[in-house]
Amino acid sequence: MNNENEGLIPLIRIGILTISDRASRGEYEDLGGPAIHDYLNRVIVEDWAEVAAVVPDERAVIEETLTKFCDVEGCCLVVTTGGTGPAARDVTPEATEAVVEKVLPGFGEMMRQVSLQYVPTAILSRQTAGTRGHCLIINLPGKPKAIAECLDAVMPAVPYCIDLIGGPYLTTHETFVKAFRPKSG
Ligand code: MTE
Repeated sequence: MNNENEGLIPLIRIGILTISDRASRGEYEDLGGPAIHDYLNRVIVEDWAEVAAVVPDERAVIEETLTKFCDVEGCCLVVTTGGTGPAARDVTPEATEAVVEKVLPGFGEMMRQVSLQYVPTAILSRQTAGTRGHCLIINLPGKPKAIAECLDAVMPAVPYCIDLIGGPYLTTHETFVKAFRPKSG
């Protein structure tokens, strides 16, 4: 193809969604979204472009944004932060389960198990994950320090999951995360 922009536009798009009433009102700085960005920048070898938003803890808004990130923006991965706990306004897992085609319970199980090594309140997070088309959606808790704690636990399986749903081939810097692909041995 004779596209003059070819090679300039990263083919890999990753959604970073901060879900917080207060951050969306500007009452405090969004630290979670940038922490996810920094983590993925450190770990993923390929060029990728961020699609980011900060939204309140409103189920309809979360569902609409997740759907847009997957179906319109073409993200192969969407990582959310916040809204996974038991408080009345925490609805991120419900919104995620409403938009995914397949729930992947192992992600939440693994992240809670590992997080319990850091805080006993990890048991309060209902974080989950699932696939919508060619996109994997993963929930993280809202605490910025939870981001690396949780992503370190699940990242080894993320590139292969994205392979399986027909997304782009991602590789990781092995000093940070060693991705596992059973078929390549
Ligand atoms: N997981 C990790 N790895 N580190 C943390 O600090 N905080 C916990 C839990 N999971 C935490 C964690 C706490 S205190 C809560 S209330 C729940 O995540 C839900 O957080 P959220 O409602 O901000 O998503």
